[in-house]
Amino acid sequence: MENQAALTRNRVDQLVQRLRGSRSVLALTGAGISAESGLPTFRGAGGLWRTHRVEELASFEGFWRNPALVWSWYNERKAAHRRARPNAGHAALAQLEKRFGDFTLCTQNVDSLHFAAGSRNVLELHGHLREARCTHCGARRELGESGLPLDEIDHPCGGRMRPNIVWFGEPLLQATWRQAEAAASRAEVILVIGTSAVVYPAAALATRYNRSAYVAEINPEETAISERIDCVLRGTAAEVLPRIVEALSPI
Ligand code: APR
Repeated sequence: MENQAALTRNRVDQLVQRLRGSRSVLALTGAGISAESGLPTFRGAGGLWRTHRVEELASFEGFWRNPALVWSWYNERKAAHRRARPNAGHAALAQLEKRFGDFTLCTQNVDSLHFAAGSRNVLELHGHLREARCTHCGARRELGESGLPLDEIDHPCGGRMRPNIVWFGEPLLQATWRQAEAAASRAEVILVIGTSAVVYPAAALATRYNRSAYVAEINPEETAISERIDCVLRGTAAEVLPRIVEALSPI
């Protein structure tokens, strides 16, 4: 029985061989890639959905019922994002983007850490916490380091300022989603990193748009799609991704 370290080493080599022969790569990331930057995930031990109610905090109905509660929660997360720094996993993905002619990073995260690490071709599938927008007139305003002051939620037009986040039950931005679908359809290798792959349509990018792509999963735990993955790397993003970049470095 190969021990886990040897198994991971062999699988990193397999993945690197595939990457060497590829031009087009897609990476799909979730909260797990920011765990080593100190930001909580949603569903793991200590996850945000273990201690908060999704319906109250991440739905339009919950926002409309109690906007101050929702903004208090997002303001806390925004402050945590400001304290967080990109980790070696984010940095490795920024390196990979430079290495491939066609590299698309689709993230479910709203913490802006991929941009902070230097990634540029990033599709923020679930929005981001850099600005708020009015529910009625669409007016936008940049969010300060501590988010939105609770006495500035009401907009003069009669609407309310909401986080620029895609909530449960809301559609993703059409233009963003179309770019993500196109990138998944043409990818030769798909890297699925730090996501439980239970939220759609984002999770569909991993296995439903391209039967011929070679799909690798980087996650310390099993996920909802692990059995459909070609190359399972049981490790953390900050451990495994730098090893892939190192093994790929030009000979
Ligand atoms: N490196 C890699 N993966 C990790 C790490 C790590 N250091 N730590 C945890 N993980 C994995 C967990 O094993 C889990 O599979 O990250 C995953 C996090 O899963 P979730 O908490 O469900 O987060 P995510 O998949 O991003 O959730 C998707 O759900 O709540 C909504 O909109 C929210 O974007 C979010 C979406």
